[in-house]
Amino acid sequence: MKRIGILGSGIVGQTLANGFLKHGYEVMIGTGDVTKLAEWKTNAGEKASSGSFSDAAVFGDLIILSVKGTAALEGIKKAGASNLAGKTVIDTTNPIADAPAENGVLRFFTGLDESLMEMEQKAYPEIHFVKAFNSVGNPFMVNPQFPGGKPTMFICGNWDAAKAEVTAILDQFGWETEDMGKAEGARAIEPLCMLWCIPGLLRNQWTHAFKLLKL
Ligand SMILES: NC(=O)c1ccc[n+]([C@@H]2O[C@H](COP(=O)([O-])OP(=O)(O)OC[C@H]3O[C@@H](n4cnc5c(N)ncnc54)[C@H](OP(=O)(O)O)[C@@H]3O)[C@@H](O)[C@H]2O)c1
Repeated sequence: MKRIGILGSGIVGQTLANGFLKHGYEVMIGTGDVTKLAEWKTNAGEKASSGSFSDAAVFGDLIILSVKGTAALEGIKKAGASNLAGKTVIDTTNPIADAPAENGVLRFFTGLDESLMEMEQKAYPEIHFVKAFNSVGNPFMVNPQFPGGKPTMFICGNWDAAKAEVTAILDQFGWETEDMGKAEGARAIEPLCMLWCIPGLLRNQWTHAFKLLKL
């Protein structure tokens, strides 16, 4: 039985926590303010707990990074690099800037030849980052049901064993997985968040996911 440590108490952290609990894992959510999680903990059952960022990092065999993009590096620092060394960290974050969207297009603080996950991997080379869950809205992260069948989750990262671990989780969570290579693949996967949000920001349409069609 795997123990999952979640760094981030927002809607993504709570949604994935509930998904892992549903699939029988033990979960601890790490936050700077545990009072935010009182209601979640009451409803989540005995396999759920909360603590600090470093408590969750120590607890988890596998870690989810689900903090605000501008705070991703800070969140990892608070969790403690040594607590995360050698562990698979699923990076759900997006480099969304603190600036308004332009005609429905979010602004990023990264350029086309860089990505947030590469910054994280460079700052913490001993952590096994895998990008995933960043290109879909939280209501569809766990066992989504679409008439067109299973949607596609694009993943990337430098560590093949970590990507295999994440692929097995995505299988449980009802996704097909496409491996887009090493950490540089995040330069393409992170902006899918922009594309996913455009129909929502322009027309209030938020109920979709990406699928890669193949021959
Ligand atoms: N919302 C979605 O549907 C969605 C979908 C795909 C990907 N994402 C990405 O997933 C990530 C989480 O999104 P979200 O909507 O759940 O929440 P969010 O509002 O983007 O982030 C909330 C989390 O960020 C943490 N945080 C903020 N400033 C911090 C700092 N200085 N140091 C450490 N932690 C800090 C908060 O910590 P505390 O717990 O201490 O408050 C909280 O846990 C984001 O990067 C987002 O782009 C979101």
